[in-house]
Amino acid sequence: MADAAQFLGIGLIGQKFMGRAHSNAFRQVGPFFGPALVPRLECVAGRDGPELAAFAARFGWRRSTTRWQDLIGDPSVGLVDVATPNHLHAEPAIAALGAGQHVLVEKPLANTLAGARALRDAARAAAARGVHAYVWFNYRRCPAIGLAWNLVREGRLGAIRHVRCHYLQSWGGPQTPASWRFRRDLAGSGAHGDLNAHSIDLARFLLGEEIDVVHGAVARTFHPLRPDPSGAAHLPSDVDDALAFTATFRNGAIGTFEASRVAGPHLNRNTIEINGERGSLRFDFEEMNVLHVWDAEDGAREGGWRRVVATEAGAHPWVEHWWPPAHPLGYEHTFTNMVADVLGAVGGHAPTVPLADVADAYETQRVLEAALVAAREGRAVPLADVL
Ligand SMILES: NC(=O)c1ccc[n+]([C@@H]2O[C@H](COP(=O)([O-])OP(=O)(O)OC[C@H]3O[C@@H](n4cnc5c(N)ncnc54)[C@H](O)[C@@H]3O)[C@@H](O)[C@H]2O)c1
Repeated sequence: MADAAQFLGIGLIGQKFMGRAHSNAFRQVGPFFGPALVPRLECVAGRDGPELAAFAARFGWRRSTTRWQDLIGDPSVGLVDVATPNHLHAEPAIAALGAGQHVLVEKPLANTLAGARALRDAARAAAARGVHAYVWFNYRRCPAIGLAWNLVREGRLGAIRHVRCHYLQSWGGPQTPASWRFRRDLAGSGAHGDLNAHSIDLARFLLGEEIDVVHGAVARTFHPLRPDPSGAAHLPSDVDDALAFTATFRNGAIGTFEASRVAGPHLNRNTIEINGERGSLRFDFEEMNVLHVWDAEDGAREGGWRRVVATEAGAHPWVEHWWPPAHPLGYEHTFTNMVADVLGAVGGHAPTVPLADVADAYETQRVLEAALVAAREGRAVPLADVL
């Protein structure tokens, strides 16, 4: 719903980590990409009134409200962006879609499979009315990942045998205070939904293949009690601090996935490696401008990993909108690149590298669920059983 076919009013829900990342992206996309549809930071909704007013002023939001419901159906808001804890994704997103507003929603899609399914159904009904709904799987928007996607599409890897994903962090030790992230009723799961969600999306996206069976999973809650932020007491934590699982894809490739918040000294080590008959790829977000490429045709004498720095305008997606060649991008650019593609898609131009829409993210949520069941029940779980 762009007014005067030029501005798209944005309503944001959530003002903390992702609220800041998204606000920055909405602000940067205009000057750097020059999109036909320009976001207007119309209204931000959060819970803490005084903090919210300061946030709104700093990031240039026109208005703020402590009731997210105020954004729904507001004629000045054409797109509602949901950046709240996982239990509060589906309800506002479904309400916005029902009001004919485009939606962006954070990952994982929801804290329960049922919530995710309800959102998928709402997005499907809204799509029939021309309403768009995308999910913030922003790692797809690293130029090195865009390059990887293109290489796989060009058949450079041949038949794919292995997908190996690690998403390792180390901030979740016993001194880390309790928060929504450690409550199953709010988050759905721990490191799994937080980190494996990204890995599953990247694996499905790069391969263009679905996982058909989760063969086994191990989940551990190493720290079942965490300090109350007030310091007065300890509160229970009932989510996984780490979860690892094995899977197979429909094309027969083997997938291994490991997510952890207690894997010191790793900081934000989001890695994916794909091994094929004719070539392999390796990516590590801690070195996000680099894609390691192996081509079997290089032969035994000179073969090996080639280190490609994906900062070349024209050769690597999104780079031409930023700095001269050889100047690296950072975390925040993944969000801005995604906003640029979303604005293009809303304006009728499909991006060259696909976005994750809600239906796509629902498939990732099914895999998350299958791994949780596998860990809980100690058995293999076919995805056909997780609908
Ligand atoms: N795409 C990514 O790489 C990425 C990274 C971090 C977090 N996330 C996801 O983003 C979401 C938010 O995570 P975060 O790190 O920003 O969390 P956070 O705790 O830093 O912020 C959550 C925000 O939601 C607000 N909120 C909570 N209940 C609300 C309500 N009823 N009405 C309005 N606002 C409310 C809080 O006040 C806060 O501003 C989560 O789903 C998380 O999984 C995604």
